[in-house]
Amino acid sequence: MEKIIVNGGRKLVGEVCISGAKNAAVAILPATILAEDICRIENIPEISDVTIMLKILTNLGATVKYINKNTLEIDTRHVDSYEVPDDFAKHLRASYYLIGALLGKFNNAKVSMPGGCNFGVRPIDQHVKGFEALGCEITIEEGMVVAHAKKMYGSSIYMDVVSVGATMNIMLASVKAKGLTVIENAAKEPHIVDLANFLNSIGADIRGAGTDVIKIRGVEELHGCTYSVVPDQIEAGTYMVAAAATGGNVLINHVIPKHLESITSKLEECGVIVEEYDEAVRVISNSRPGKCTVKTMPHPGFPTDMQPQMATLLTIAEGTSVVSESVWDSRFRYVNQLSKMGADIQVNGKIAVIQGVNKLKGAPVKAFDLRAGAAMIIAGLIAEGKTEIEDIIYIDRGYEDIVEKLRKIGADIKRVPVLEPISSTTANAG
Ligand code: EPU
Repeated sequence: MEKIIVNGGRKLVGEVCISGAKNAAVAILPATILAEDICRIENIPEISDVTIMLKILTNLGATVKYINKNTLEIDTRHVDSYEVPDDFAKHLRASYYLIGALLGKFNNAKVSMPGGCNFGVRPIDQHVKGFEALGCEITIEEGMVVAHAKKMYGSSIYMDVVSVGATMNIMLASVKAKGLTVIENAAKEPHIVDLANFLNSIGADIRGAGTDVIKIRGVEELHGCTYSVVPDQIEAGTYMVAAAATGGNVLINHVIPKHLESITSKLEECGVIVEEYDEAVRVISNSRPGKCTVKTMPHPGFPTDMQPQMATLLTIAEGTSVVSESVWDSRFRYVNQLSKMGADIQVNGKIAVIQGVNKLKGAPVKAFDLRAGAAMIIAGLIAEGKTEIEDIIYIDRGYEDIVEKLRKIGADIKRVPVLEPISSTTANAG
């Protein structure tokens, strides 16, 4: 087990390259189950969520061959089981995509209830609603979601809440269903579009991804392909905020600037300069950030997965900022860690009021979840003195080489072994 030590106070300067998107990769990998030939996937991030998903697929009978660090070939033609053992699935929120993919292939799935970062209740009723509309019967048996259909039929499904996971899962389950499936009030995140693009590359007929109405016409068979995962919007946003918070000047390469607009616009409101290029953004900050108001929303709104990082920047902003969380019930658990570092934050339900202070001071803190962990790193970068971050297994779930990437742009940051176990060795993320 390891922890991260950051000696704060250095400006980040230089260039960083963004990896493939975690939340696209963890859906595209199970989607390969539907293909009747080898899929070559490029730009796969080297993160532990991907490692767990690959273990699950291998366990089901898939063969995985790494071509290089971020490219792999996956052959799912010999997947012959639709049962995902509890040991793997319970540690990964994205294990719910196996339900959709296995249903799409076998009309059957048995997958344990998904784990995931603890943001309060994380229901899957919209997934279930979608599967049932396609003709499945769903039961929960001893903590396993058991789904069965004699045959899957296209259907019209109106999502009662905008859900990334349910939208993707219904896409997976319906690509081979007979007839037309229409998802209304669909989520529009970049990873929804990426999954649809991948599925279309293997022969699916999906239109409208990225809008709130997605139409899926069922096809008989899906083939192999070569596909490159979209750049990670949240990883890019995390480096943007880190650059801004340290008063730095960083060129963030391999991004889609359009996906970053909501983050760019909030940083600009704080007085940060963001220059956009075709596949890069440069973030320049010459002064203390200004205050702002942030409300998390489904895409294209400000992403909930950037809320802890942005709130951390605002701890040192001039004036009082307000951050409202409208996606998850309980995503301010990290705030008391920032308070230990001298931040002035009052949380009332889903609203945090942040009174900017001149500086944070290094302290021992914990990563409560993936994005909260990224926020602790940003806090460490801006704080005076040493910050030690424990439970970094959460961070490793979603950020490829974060320590190395930050070190290359000037951070004083390292990983060191922890001798005593701090908590459990298995974390849930996503
Ligand atoms: N919801 C329901 N019923 C459902 C599904 C969701 O009420 O059946 C509610 C949730 O309780 C929540 C809201 O709808 O209030 C949105 O949930 P969503 O289904 O969109 O979230 P998710 O698919 O479980 C994904 C990401 C999260 C990210 C959210 C929101 C993955 C693996 N996870 O979760 O990412 O916060 O979308 O954008 O894609 C992260 O990367 O750190 C992370 C947590």
